[in-house]
Amino acid sequence: MVTIAPSEAARRDFVRRLAAGHRPGGPLAGPFYTSPEVFQEDLARIWGRYWLYAGHACQIPRPGDWFTFAVGSDSVIVVRGETGEIRAFHNTCRHRGSRVCPTETGSSRRLTCPYHAWSYGLDGQLMMDPKAEFGLDRSQLSLHPVKVRTVAGIVFVALSDDPVDFEEAFSTIERKLKPHGLERAKLAHKIDYVVKANWKLVFENNRECYHCPPNHREYNLATYDVLRDNAVTDPKLKAEMEAVVAETNARFRSLDLDEGDAESAMTDAHWRCRRSPLMKGFTTQSMDGKPVSTLMGDFKERDAGTLRTTVFPNFWQHANDDYACASRLTPIGPTETHVRVLWFVDRDAQEGKDYTLDRLLPIWKLTSEQDWDICRWNQQGVSSSRYVPGRYSTTREQNVAHFVDWYLREVVK
Ligand code: FES
Ligand SMILES: [Fe+2]
Repeated sequence: MVTIAPSEAARRDFVRRLAAGHRPGGPLAGPFYTSPEVFQEDLARIWGRYWLYAGHACQIPRPGDWFTFAVGSDSVIVVRGETGEIRAFHNTCRHRGSRVCPTETGSSRRLTCPYHAWSYGLDGQLMMDPKAEFGLDRSQLSLHPVKVRTVAGIVFVALSDDPVDFEEAFSTIERKLKPHGLERAKLAHKIDYVVKANWKLVFENNRECYHCPPNHREYNLATYDVLRDNAVTDPKLKAEMEAVVAETNARFRSLDLDEGDAESAMTDAHWRCRRSPLMKGFTTQSMDGKPVSTLMGDFKERDAGTLRTTVFPNFWQHANDDYACASRLTPIGPTETHVRVLWFVDRDAQEGKDYTLDRLLPIWKLTSEQDWDICRWNQQGVSSSRYVPGRYSTTREQNVAHFVDWYLREVVK
């Protein structure tokens, strides 16, 4: 039997009808997490239009260093040029379309296609003169550029030539993240996971800490999220939380940093960058609260809280004063998501002397893996013939509702 792919118009219509049936204040209907048609719309309308986190600039420190980042059927080459600038190109050869860089990382003065060895400079220009043999000018055969922005050491790319406006986010993230010195960092470790869940379930999981008390013993000790959530309904905890926030804000001010937020409610449309307190006795997010590496960036003293940066649809990062842990989501299929978790330390920190993976990794490795289990079970449950969307907590899950509202607005645009 031949399967005929639904037309784009039919697919869009299907998703519009699903979105119109959404009941605000609760989770999405099952097909949003299982249907191949919705997945294709997600790729086109969300992943194709939004700025995506590709990696950190410090992963390609020298001219000629590159990495690739694949989303759906597209692949992007992110490369450091001769004079240190970062550029990005579509990873498709201008001859017959082969992937130019078939691997995930590399370093070379030219980008050479493996098929017939057409070579491109680090600026994407074809090196040879194709006029005589191919009848075209060199300028017509450059690699297609991809929009790229490096923001305080984080590289964002956009697959569209006309992506959503992100200037306010770029300038805020740049300012707040700058003291953490991620441009002068190095990748200490990364772990790749294939999470058996739709990318939205993975992001939704990140948008609330209602699940933290029963799942994240280690994370709960370090961060104040649970205290903040519980304080909403408990006056005694409210006083305790306010004391933590007042104390840490005084500390942040003394370090010349922006104040943190007591509130968790997300008001920015699709991004957030806020400093949060850590619990008493914790100068960083570690198992015992003690530092796990040398200070990063401009910090001269310990205890700068944790700067959380969240960018829909594929990035979150906790930057502490001695390390940063970032997560990158990439959709694989309706029920599978690739998540890369990356740990960064100061570029001069030496493994074994200034940091060990034994101390650096556990809190976010454990927390992430606990989340991937939850996401998998969530996927299995929403795939059930009896799944009916429930309701979000109005005090602990408002940021999930915010994410879902954003998603529904954007996927039908
Ligand atoms: S397809 Fe790249 S050189 Fe031929
Ligand atoms: Fe979690």
